[in-house]
Amino acid sequence: MSGFEASWLALRARYDAAARNPELLARLVAWRQQRGPLGLVDLGSGTGATLRALAPVLGGEQRWLLVDHDPALLDTIQPETRRWAETQGHEIHAAEAGFTLSGDGFSAQVTPFQADLSGGLSALPTQDAEIVTASALLDLVSAEWLELLVGFCCEHRLACYAALSYDGDMGWNPQDRMDDDLHALFDRHQRGEKSFGRALGPDAARATAECFTAAGFTVQSGKSDWQMGGEDRDMQEALLAGYVQAARELAPDRSAEIELWRQRRRMAIGIGSSRHRVGHIDILAIPKS
Ligand SMILES: C[S@@+](CC[C@H](N)C(=O)[O-])C[C@H]1O[C@@H](n2cnc3c(N)ncnc32)[C@H](O)[C@@H]1O
Repeated sequence: MSGFEASWLALRARYDAAARNPELLARLVAWRQQRGPLGLVDLGSGTGATLRALAPVLGGEQRWLLVDHDPALLDTIQPETRRWAETQGHEIHAAEAGFTLSGDGFSAQVTPFQADLSGGLSALPTQDAEIVTASALLDLVSAEWLELLVGFCCEHRLACYAALSYDGDMGWNPQDRMDDDLHALFDRHQRGEKSFGRALGPDAARATAECFTAAGFTVQSGKSDWQMGGEDRDMQEALLAGYVQAARELAPDRSAEIELWRQRRRMAIGIGSSRHRVGHIDILAIPKS
């Protein structure tokens, strides 16, 4: 339904976890440590990667509302989190509206919640939440929707931690003469119509920082790039497939040269000589007291 496969979200999770900006995470933890039990609303939660990345780091008591429009992804949150919890030595138990997750120094009540966010956020049961989180979501949203998010955070005095927005910065090594063309086509595609209207794509992080700053929040941002080496074949292959699909949609008349580019790239990936970097930006916006 959403176009985001659970298998793709599982593949990228390791790269996301390694990429999250450590200074911003430290600031988020410092902010959290000034609070007691913490309510969090995760937008576009997918299979719950943000919960798994943040819950042990934030510590203490937490209540999470995980919001997505795709019921199939929401259904995978508990089993995915159970698998992860077993590898980490955490405990997980089914509860009435979701499950509880606990480990050394933290316990979280987790409620998956289905909602199409494209129409706005006003119907979300924020209760006593203090922060909105989102990972790999804001590059999908429109400028108008971003205004809604900032308005929502102002109205409810919510902080916002928005991680892993694609920022239009990418590079391959070894380089190919067609890389720049494919990159430009991909960025154009990223700025196309998505489920929130015309997407901000690579402009999302800058626009987010500007909007929250204009609304009087204290805003910090930091890079969170994916770094892939020769051994990261599956991730590079998956990204390559996405770039090729986007390019073919926008430039069907160039499909022959796009295919040749794909073959050259696949060869480098196959022999383990391909390195690839994809730029992202994390943002933390905190309401001024
Ligand atoms: C790139 S995925 C990121 C998922 C997750 N945050 C992660 O980091 O793995 C974007 C998520 O946004 C969700 N999404 C897209 N459009 C949405 C909408 N209109 N309402 C609610 N969720 C939406 C998708 O279903 C998907 O789970």
